[in-house]
Amino acid sequence: MKKGVSAKAIYRKDYTAFPWKIERVELRFSIGDSFTRVCTSMQLKSKTRGSGNQHLELDGKDLDLRSISIDGTKLGESSYEISGERMRISDLPERCVLDTEVHIKPAENTALEGLYKAGDFLLTQCEAEGFRKITWFPDRPDVMTCYSVQIEADAAIYPVLLSNGNAVDSGTSEGGRHWVRWEDPYPKPSYLFALVAGDLAHIEDHFLTRSGRDVTLKVYVENENIDRCDHAMESLINAMKWDEDRFGLEYDLDIYNIVATNDFNMGAMENKSLNIFNSKYVLASPDTATDADYQGIEGVIGHEYFHNWTGNRVTCQDWFQLTLKEGLTVFRDEEFSADMQSRAVKRIQDVRDLRDRQFPEDAGPMAHPIQPDRYIKINNFYTATVYQKGAAIIRMYHTLLGEQGFQKGMRLYFERHDGQAVSCDDFLAAMADANSTDLDRFGRWYSQSGTPEVTVETRHDESSGNFHVVLSQSTPPSHDQAEKVPLVIPFAMGLLNPDGSEVQLQLEGEPEAGGTTRLLLLEKESQCFSFINVQQTVVPSLLRDFSAPVKVHYPWTVQELSHLIAHDPDTFARWEATQTLAQMCILEQVQSRADGKEMLLEPGLLAAFSGLLADRAVDPALLAEAMILPAEDYLAEQMVVIDVDGIHAARQFIRTELARALSVPFRQRFSQLNDGARYNKSPQAIAERSLKNVCLSYLVKATDGDHLAHAQFVGSDNMTDTLAGLRGLVLEGSTGAADALKTFEKKWKDDALVMDKWFAMQAIMPAHDTVQQVRKLMKHPAFSIRNPNKVRSLIGVFSMLNPTGFHTPDGSAYRFHADQVIALDAINPQMAARMASAFNRWARYDGERKALMKQQLKRIAAVPGLSSDTSEIVSSALK
Ligand code: TRP
Ligand code: ZN
Repeated sequence: MKKGVSAKAIYRKDYTAFPWKIERVELRFSIGDSFTRVCTSMQLKSKTRGSGNQHLELDGKDLDLRSISIDGTKLGESSYEISGERMRISDLPERCVLDTEVHIKPAENTALEGLYKAGDFLLTQCEAEGFRKITWFPDRPDVMTCYSVQIEADAAIYPVLLSNGNAVDSGTSEGGRHWVRWEDPYPKPSYLFALVAGDLAHIEDHFLTRSGRDVTLKVYVENENIDRCDHAMESLINAMKWDEDRFGLEYDLDIYNIVATNDFNMGAMENKSLNIFNSKYVLASPDTATDADYQGIEGVIGHEYFHNWTGNRVTCQDWFQLTLKEGLTVFRDEEFSADMQSRAVKRIQDVRDLRDRQFPEDAGPMAHPIQPDRYIKINNFYTATVYQKGAAIIRMYHTLLGEQGFQKGMRLYFERHDGQAVSCDDFLAAMADANSTDLDRFGRWYSQSGTPEVTVETRHDESSGNFHVVLSQSTPPSHDQAEKVPLVIPFAMGLLNPDGSEVQLQLEGEPEAGGTTRLLLLEKESQCFSFINVQQTVVPSLLRDFSAPVKVHYPWTVQELSHLIAHDPDTFARWEATQTLAQMCILEQVQSRADGKEMLLEPGLLAAFSGLLADRAVDPALLAEAMILPAEDYLAEQMVVIDVDGIHAARQFIRTELARALSVPFRQRFSQLNDGARYNKSPQAIAERSLKNVCLSYLVKATDGDHLAHAQFVGSDNMTDTLAGLRGLVLEGSTGAADALKTFEKKWKDDALVMDKWFAMQAIMPAHDTVQQVRKLMKHPAFSIRNPNKVRSLIGVFSMLNPTGFHTPDGSAYRFHADQVIALDAINPQMAARMASAFNRWARYDGERKALMKQQLKRIAAVPGLSSDTSEIVSSALK
């Protein structure tokens, strides 16, 4: 371990409250050509009793300090001390006013934190610790205060000047300049501060809250995008209504603004009344955005809106509590989307996402509990664990307490903590107290990392009709925790009779049967549950609705899984059976191939798919989900030593065999759904497109698939179908692929978001020489390493979603990727660190690849002046 790195770690146990109250803060921004002047005035009051000798600590980074004074008296250089990002001022009176003036250079800010230039306008990103790049301030979430913000700038270049809260005053000043003053009546931490200045167009709508507040809603974009904002606005209105109906939560200001930018490190940001969004999560029109994009917009617009209560009104005491707002808000946005669209499909997509992204993280070198114990850079902890596993843990409260009990808990949480900065313990206590129950043991989910594994053993005593289920749990040791304890695991299950009907379940000791799905509570290492009056031979349906974020082990037979695929009324468990069966078949073929044997298609899988395709009663979207085979990386997680080429070959083999054997029903379904109807965005139409395009993805493996893909690419009136057609051509290496890519490029070369898709499509080509193509594409005029969306769609897609391309045996792609991480580190450390995590699972690969990846990690680690963001990731990978 490098000494300098470990020294900078911050520990959760070291939390202490901030000793000052900031009664209010006034910020004055004067935006100039080469720099922006920021004048800050804080009214301070000590929280510790006793007089004199008070000291104050402030955070600041890359600030050109021009002056600093206390109660109007300038401080000399001996009155304060700056070391690193900290300023320490000693000997302050109990009450005082601190004034500072700094100069900052937004145009030179490539890290996209603090105040920065994006296109022709200026905007801020302050979470988690970006405010310190704007002014000296206690940049920590437990310091909440009321902001008054004046922005002054050239009226021609920056006609729109926005900040949080209400615009209370405005005027013009000399030299064609103007100013606006904003006041936010709600105290907030610095990470929720926002400012936007530029020449932006907007659309406007209104929402009348249930208590009669008329809220003005605006979506601001660069002029050319003004006709692509309607879906975002509609999603916002739906989110506001839904939060009132389901959670009883209303909006609390008269203004809600959203600004979209192409240059953003993450998805979006919930700044109080001034959300800032990656344009990917705002802009949509049928010809430029896919159905998945539309759903992504609805989800993220909802997410940021829901933060107004879960995050802003009640915020985090410190960054170790990040999941307090993120896990809870992801749970809320998942439920919103489930209520707006198909609950069953949404659930499957969320589980797939958790397993594809979070499970590997939890098994890798950066494994951490949802409430971590330590970090070096908090930016590295905006993870699938804190967000998605955090949401899964909130979902378990909901499963245990029911909708009513959960809402009771939420009400108590707001009653107790509105306006405060609190911890995960406070949330748990509110849930427990509101329901007069003890959740202490449940609280272990916050502090233990790793994915628990539940082993299921069943024994049927046919003479007595007793069906015993033994559930045992264990969590594998992870690098951060050697010892693991048993958790409270809500495990939902049912039993299916031979005719597909469900058993009415009665546990031993119960007077009567209580439904067909039962929630078993596994709290110890191992527990036995006995159902009585089970007369026939049954098949268990396990972990229904994915009732806990765990892995299940059960010795399935093909017959049992086929039975579940045909009959299970729990849509999650039914889908899960398809995935388990497909996974078993693919992994068997990986083994056969490694043994030099011929690969075979399991007849049971063929029969199951054939049955599904023939079942006209199934929701087309669910059918589509069922026929998507487990991802290569998910399959890789199941192997001790990852056989990259074997997994790709086996998965492709199964896809091709299914496509050949089922070409007639695939073709029938495809043709029926490809009925020439014009595009619409109803859930039914989306479901039908998804099934049609899954059919197409199989058909391109059969004889005339190329023609179908080409015809769809040429004739489609929407991006979902266009892209599915293009993907068919490109991934199958069809002769028309190059021309189609050119046509697409010509049409969309000036559209940043559509070009992201074009880059991603080529980055994902599963070939050993794709790295050369990626290298070439980096020189394309539409690519820029400074733009995070471009980096993600070309470099990120290649290194994280294209195992065949990335793990080229000669290591050339590793070298390429390390070059990009190093280049990025000097521009945008947060993005560099994210990209560096592509190497995290290096130790799981075969000897050659392992050595080649390790070599690149070491090369990155040795870069002089490497950011602590990237350094934290690579040094944990190397440990
Ligand atoms: N709070 C944001 C969200 O989840 C996340 C976020 C946006 C963020 N931008 C960021 C986190 C930059 C860290 C750095 O909605
Ligand atoms: Zn969030």
